[in-house]
Amino acid sequence: MTCVALIPAAGSGSRLAGPQPKQYASLAGRPMLWHAVAAVCRPPVETVFVVLAPGDTGYRSCDWSVFAGKIAPLYCGGETRRDSVYNGLVAAMTAVNADDWVLVHDAARPCLPAADLERLYAECRHDEIGGILALPVAETVKRAGKDEAGAQRVAGTEDRAQLWLAQTPQMFRAALLAEALGKAKSSITDEASAIEQMGLRPRLVAGSHENFKVTYIEDLAIAESILARRAA
Ligand code: CTP
Ligand code: MG
Repeated sequence: MTCVALIPAAGSGSRLAGPQPKQYASLAGRPMLWHAVAAVCRPPVETVFVVLAPGDTGYRSCDWSVFAGKIAPLYCGGETRRDSVYNGLVAAMTAVNADDWVLVHDAARPCLPAADLERLYAECRHDEIGGILALPVAETVKRAGKDEAGAQRVAGTEDRAQLWLAQTPQMFRAALLAEALGKAKSSITDEASAIEQMGLRPRLVAGSHENFKVTYIEDLAIAESILARRAA
């Protein structure tokens, strides 16, 4: 059974607000995207498709030689993450079989531990639907609402025992994922949402804090320290 990875890397990184798109922010001497590719370019993954913005200029200025023969750039990113993943999946379908596993992974998660990838695959490879890495919520979660003066106030407390934070990779069979994304709204923020909207329940596989999503400028130093510790 074949297994491929697909990395949407066509975002702008508006919350990080760096001088270049977030996926090209420098971490340990390499672009963040390079580390995300390295994290998934290992067995059982055979090919890594990277979905880039049509006007991307960063990719060709990086050295991808260590992944030669295993990495395929696709210049078909869209307006939203869902659009980028869907466009990339449609483009990759010429090389992917309907039953192949597709592991969708954020370019913004450069510190995915190898053990997390292995656990996800081991727990989902015989699953009917597939699944995602996720973390049980550790903090107390408040619902917010504005008062008459427009100030944010606590409107309620959620039951955190039922709440998990979705990470990536998210692992589904190619044909099911393409069908689900084809029916989904552009505004969904992960692949599992599209699968859920088909009435299916993806498996939750425990991930780790190291696989956090680099979102704000201060996250770069945290990612850098994780990568530096592993290299040492
Ligand atoms: N992504 C994408 N195409 C888009 C938007 C996002 O391929 N139109 C990708 C990003 O490049 C990233 C992943 O989806 O690898 C997760 O998105 P996020 O962390 O939100 O990155 P950005 O959208 O770039 O950042 P921001 O939301 O702060 O603008
Ligand atoms: Mg975004």
